Amino acid sequence: MRLLVCGGAGFIGSTFVRLRLGDQGDAVTVLDKLTYAGRQENLQDVLDRIRFVHGAIEDPLTVADAVDGCDAIVNFAAETHVDRSISGAEAFIATNMQGTHVLLEAARERGLRYVQVSTDEVYGSIESGSFTESSPLIPSSPYSATKAGADLLVASYFHTYRLETVICRGSNNYGPYQHPEKLIPLMILNALAGDPLPVYGDGRNVRNWLYVEDFARGIGHALGLGQPGEAYNCGGPDECENLDAVRRIIELAGANESLIEFVPDRPGHDRRYSLSSEKLRALGWEPRVRFAEGLERTVGWYRDNSWWWDPIRSGAYRDYYERQYGRALGA
Ligand code: NAD
Ligand code: DAU
Repeated sequence: MRLLVCGGAGFIGSTFVRLRLGDQGDAVTVLDKLTYAGRQENLQDVLDRIRFVHGAIEDPLTVADAVDGCDAIVNFAAETHVDRSISGAEAFIATNMQGTHVLLEAARERGLRYVQVSTDEVYGSIESGSFTESSPLIPSSPYSATKAGADLLVASYFHTYRLETVICRGSNNYGPYQHPEKLIPLMILNALAGDPLPVYGDGRNVRNWLYVEDFARGIGHALGLGQPGEAYNCGGPDECENLDAVRRIIELAGANESLIEFVPDRPGHDRRYSLSSEKLRALGWEPRVRFAEGLERTVGWYRDNSWWWDPIRSGAYRDYYERQYGRALGA
């Protein structure tokens, strides 16, 4: 296929690009704004095999240039961090909602297949059991509200214009190239450095961990085999309380539990996410990497690749970290 991968310089998008170049022999154009979260370094091994367009998905002219010659759009581009959406949601609305609209219009004008990469967070929190694709969308954070808004817009383009849309909703991803603002890399890098490990609330929130290559393959199944107008959940094989995940990272990093610091909870913090992925499994997908194995691989990757994270940790991220954690950790 000839794919336009929006947000392909981010954590999951770059994994997807690598997979498609290797497994499927696709021709790939990446359109990416290179925000604080997107880096060409994430694609360093494949940059000479793709077309890279630097720009924003909410800019119709840039999108028109990038999409030229493509058969399908896969949209990863988003503002993705819940804590940042709580501090200010403007960029989330512009990228996640307006940007999705521009891409849908580009797909509609050209009759292209369109895959929207979405999240379990659109369903909100669930005490027991698992969400299916027909569960209501009850997002909690500004981030998840913009992702749910985008999903509804995508669904409307199927119903109104019969655009070939497919939505793929993933659970919490982890693995190489994830920005250090997210729980797993943040805890790994702090544990390796002997820095405090800031756990929100009581640390008993549950996440459904999905190794990034498993999500990339799941999105590939949705792209190739998904029915137009349908959504597919893509959940990880293991659930884990945050505190248990942090303790496991401490063990793998050879650090000490005394680094754990309980800090004030995230406002509106969802207690538990859980997805039923039967519909995607019926298309032949299943997760291959259990959390214990994936976490060991991930800690090893961060230990061996300081060239990748060192520039991030010593740049603008430090100001963000200070704003987000400074007061709580200094207390
Ligand atoms: P990320 O933050 O690592 O990457 C996002 C990418 O989008 C970056 O390369 C960034 O530069 C780019 N981008 C941001 N705004 C843009 C804009 N206006 N125009 C063009 N590019 C822009 O995110 P990620 O974790 O790789 O997530 C990718 C997608 O998967 C997102 O849509 C997210 O909602 C979804 N998702 C993430 C997870 C997870 O656990 N990380 C789970 C399920 C779904
Ligand atoms: O569920 C899928 C979602 O997973 C994606 O849609 C989002 O883009 C992605 O950011 C992620 O959202 P979460 O909010 O679940 O991930 P985060 O890594 O921010 O937090 C995971 C859990 O860890 C959550 O319960 C909050 C907690 N946490 C997080 C951080 C950053 C802490 O206890 N301390 C921290 O410092």
